[in-house]
Amino acid sequence: MILNIGLVLRDICSITVIIIVILLFYLFVVAKIIRKIHPFPIPAFMTRIIDNPIRRKFIQKPYLIAERMNLQPGMKVIEIGPGKGNYTKAVASKILPDGEVYAIDIQESVINRLKKRLENEEIKNIIPMINDVYNLTFENESIDRIFAIACLPEIPNPVQALMELKRVLKPEGIISFSELFIDPDYPLRRTEKKWAKEAGLVFIERFGNFFSYQLNFGRKLKN
Ligand SMILES: C[S@@+](CC[C@H](N)C(=O)[O-])C[C@H]1O[C@@H](n2cnc3c(N)ncnc32)[C@H](O)[C@@H]1O
Repeated sequence: MILNIGLVLRDICSITVIIIVILLFYLFVVAKIIRKIHPFPIPAFMTRIIDNPIRRKFIQKPYLIAERMNLQPGMKVIEIGPGKGNYTKAVASKILPDGEVYAIDIQESVINRLKKRLENEEIKNIIPMINDVYNLTFENESIDRIFAIACLPEIPNPVQALMELKRVLKPEGIISFSELFIDPDYPLRRTEKKWAKEAGLVFIERFGNFFSYQLNFGRKLKN
């Protein structure tokens, strides 16, 4: 009798897990289709769900993302679409004492939320600002590093955006993109490389795997 109850419970658990996996897959496919037909910026409240502890601990670790950019003290860095700012903070800590991260987004709500957080935590070398990646308010060749996480594929014309990023990047600078498979906008590595090539950027280095990768590009090959 006890054995039977155990077997029934095990079956119920297995069926529940299968149903959850099917539902998640279904949601993922539906989200992908909706975003293909009607691209729109991910609302600020969603970035709180996207940037969760599981992702930061196991999948896209902020310190690792920062480490792969060869950051040096004093650098000027742009992050596009900073979300909650956890990746921004990891990068900002590596360019102290006088380096700065310009955390840009087109959504005022994202920028305001980040400003509040930085005030509370008294972080001074992150500058949140509203800016459009198609039309940046930065000088030509003035920025050492540019990065974006789960953001480039959300931009409707990534090649145009990349050309503008190239304009502000110093000749020896690096542009780094990190993507995640569960993002409904996830592009294959070769797609992102193709966009960069069309924008006149050179592929430098690749990290991670199919499910979570990071690609570095520059204006010319690393020596
Ligand atoms: C998916 S969210 C970023 C998530 C965040 N990087 C993370 O990993 O948690 C993408 C962000 O890109 C911003 N964005 C979209 N188009 C943009 C543009 N043209 N210029 C600047 N930011 C843009 C959106 O407003 C949105 O906040």
